Amino acid sequence: MTPMDMLLSRASTDRLQDPAPSPEQLMAILGTAMRAPDHGRLQPWRYVVIEGQDRPALAERIVASMARVEPESPAAKIEKRRTRFATMPMIIALGMHLQPEHKIPLWEQEMCVAAGAMNILNALYATGFGGVWVSGALVEDAVLAAELGLSRLAGFLFVGTPDGAQHTPKRADPALFTARWHGQPVTFGADKD
Ligand SMILES: Cc1cc2nc3c(=O)[nH]c(=O)nc-3n(C[C@H](O)[C@H](O)[C@H](O)COP(=O)(O)O)c2cc1C
Repeated sequence: MTPMDMLLSRASTDRLQDPAPSPEQLMAILGTAMRAPDHGRLQPWRYVVIEGQDRPALAERIVASMARVEPESPAAKIEKRRTRFATMPMIIALGMHLQPEHKIPLWEQEMCVAAGAMNILNALYATGFGGVWVSGALVEDAVLAAELGLSRLAGFLFVGTPDGAQHTPKRADPALFTARWHGQPVTFGADKD
């Protein structure tokens, strides 16, 4: 597969089984996040890796967080979250080490973390692994973030080996989201009725 084929065919998946990346593979994969565009070289990304016997404890913290931030959650949703966090081969908590007082705006720092996460998803796919970025109201929970040693959460990556053949969903036509500017404001095909 060429690099372009890889980038054009990557898809997220939560149908994951063992193995997760080895420690060496994981460092190579996370190394691609260090190639994210990073204004001011602030390196705002942080990764907390949870696997094996530590997963049930994380799942309990997730459930406790839901009780704080989503107290109306139905029991089925709580149990689904508990099971997913307790059984995914590897979970990577995406942390943001932000500097609100820095001259580089906060939103640029957050986008840098996101760009790093995208590189990780591509690197997982390129190395035969799979993953998906999940969030939910609990990423706003400062207590959960602190329990992980983070000041701010950007979500979680579920990571493992795709269970079965990779399904590549149909992608949108990029021309719909692109316009050439000739001195007047553009319009996009994607925004037409
Ligand atoms: C910041 C962020 C948070 C997300 N949170 C969730 C989530 O909580 N649940 C979910 O099903 N998808 C979530 N997604 C979307 C999936 O990660 C994924 O992009 C989506 O399933 C589409 O798959 P694709 O990456 O193959 O296009 C999130 C994406 C981003 C960027």
